[in-house]
Amino acid sequence: MTAPASPASPASSATSASSASPADRAGRAARTARAASVRFAATHTLPVLVRGFVGARPRATKGHAAPGRPRWSAATLRALRARHGGAPVLVRGLTGAALLVLDPQDIRQFYAEPVSGPAPAPAPGAPDGCTRAGPHAERRAIDESVLAAGLPVHPSCGPFLSVLAEEARRLTGGNTLELARTRHAVARAARRIVLGDAAAEDTELTRRPGRFHPKAGARIAAYADLAEPHTLMGRARRHGDPTGGLDPVGQAAQWLAAFDLVPGVLLRTLLLLGVHPAEQDAVAAEARAPGVARGALPRLRACVREALRLYPAVPDLIRITRAETEWRGVRRPAGTCVVLPALFHQRDPEHVPAAHVFVPGRWASRGAEHDLRMAPFSHAGGRCPGEQLALLVTTALCAEVLRGHRVHAVRPVLDPVGPLPGLLDPQGIRLRLTRR
Ligand code: HEM
Repeated sequence: MTAPASPASPASSATSASSASPADRAGRAARTARAASVRFAATHTLPVLVRGFVGARPRATKGHAAPGRPRWSAATLRALRARHGGAPVLVRGLTGAALLVLDPQDIRQFYAEPVSGPAPAPAPGAPDGCTRAGPHAERRAIDESVLAAGLPVHPSCGPFLSVLAEEARRLTGGNTLELARTRHAVARAARRIVLGDAAAEDTELTRRPGRFHPKAGARIAAYADLAEPHTLMGRARRHGDPTGGLDPVGQAAQWLAAFDLVPGVLLRTLLLLGVHPAEQDAVAAEARAPGVARGALPRLRACVREALRLYPAVPDLIRITRAETEWRGVRRPAGTCVVLPALFHQRDPEHVPAAHVFVPGRWASRGAEHDLRMAPFSHAGGRCPGEQLALLVTTALCAEVLRGHRVHAVRPVLDPVGPLPGLLDPQGIRLRLTRR
């Protein structure tokens, strides 16, 4: 395979694995060592870190407005896919080399990779192939149990919905809605859901999205003692720690940070509903229907999922391989950083019908949540354990707004039938609310 200059940027190039330099190999080892700790940050608080690889992407040329950028980069990825016959392509970006999975037929192999970082050093005398439950497995078990992964309605749904109804008043307290107000309301709700009511006012805990107060650990530990039983901390406390290897304070900090994804998803969903008034009326009717299971709201949930398909909060997924792997007959050494550009696949017009249009109904079909091309919450062993809780929270907040208000999109101006822009910066979203 040749090493074509990527059309992405002068600083990046696509290469074959065999051309990996010693520097690449050294960098790979370093990345492997960091992988476990950065993975969460990369997905939830520092998506830019991940984007760095695909930041092998072109800069917008003059005259390309921001909304055109991702599509141009998608065109680049499509061109790479065509040039390499669909085979994964090694791309050198600013943060190192990464193997890009560009063809849907390789997605299954991506998800077969383990999600944790490096394999723990084998115990002396351990048989070949013996895998030990690393810290990721322990953390994952707590996440799944506390977050009730897989249950569409969280066991603490009742108290959580009461919190969300109260905090949603901050969303509807004015005639307009934008990011600052949304962040404030969601962060308060998140502190109450994770740590309990005592933490509601502690705006200092997370100074900015993903940035914690220097004494956050001590403060979280103090709230942990007060946390009501239905809170995530209260549930974690009941879970126990038989091996003594858990870090509930660290996990609570992760859960709080994960909620930072919600405001952007919420605003984009409401904006799209503002542009699709018929769908808005239908989901508002669902939210207002008497006797409705308030935690479910399937039609509104489908809108949230569709907003996430069009604008995934985590646009690229990464795995660092633990062993040598083979991709379309080409061997890649252990420690290869493999990137699945989820945004690209979710909006790939060659494989997804009406890829650039808001079609929430696509999530109504059976098995839609398991379609590997769609990965707003990933799949397999790394699938977001907070998926159902995040959907519950986002849907409930949308429902609270829509029950009493009609949402009008002020900016950006979107074409309801035309292709939607590739990028929707929540910072630029402004909505107007009128009473229903
Ligand atoms: C709309 C909001 C959210 C989105 C779009 C989202 C998306 C994701 C994605 C795509 C991954 C998997 C990354 C991969 O495969 O490498 C992930 C992992 C994870 N998410 Fe979320 N998430 C959201 C909210 C939450 C919330 C609210 C929590 C907890 C309260 C949470 C907890 C986690 C954890 C702990 C992991 C790591 C799982 C592991 O390492 O096994 N997420 N999330």
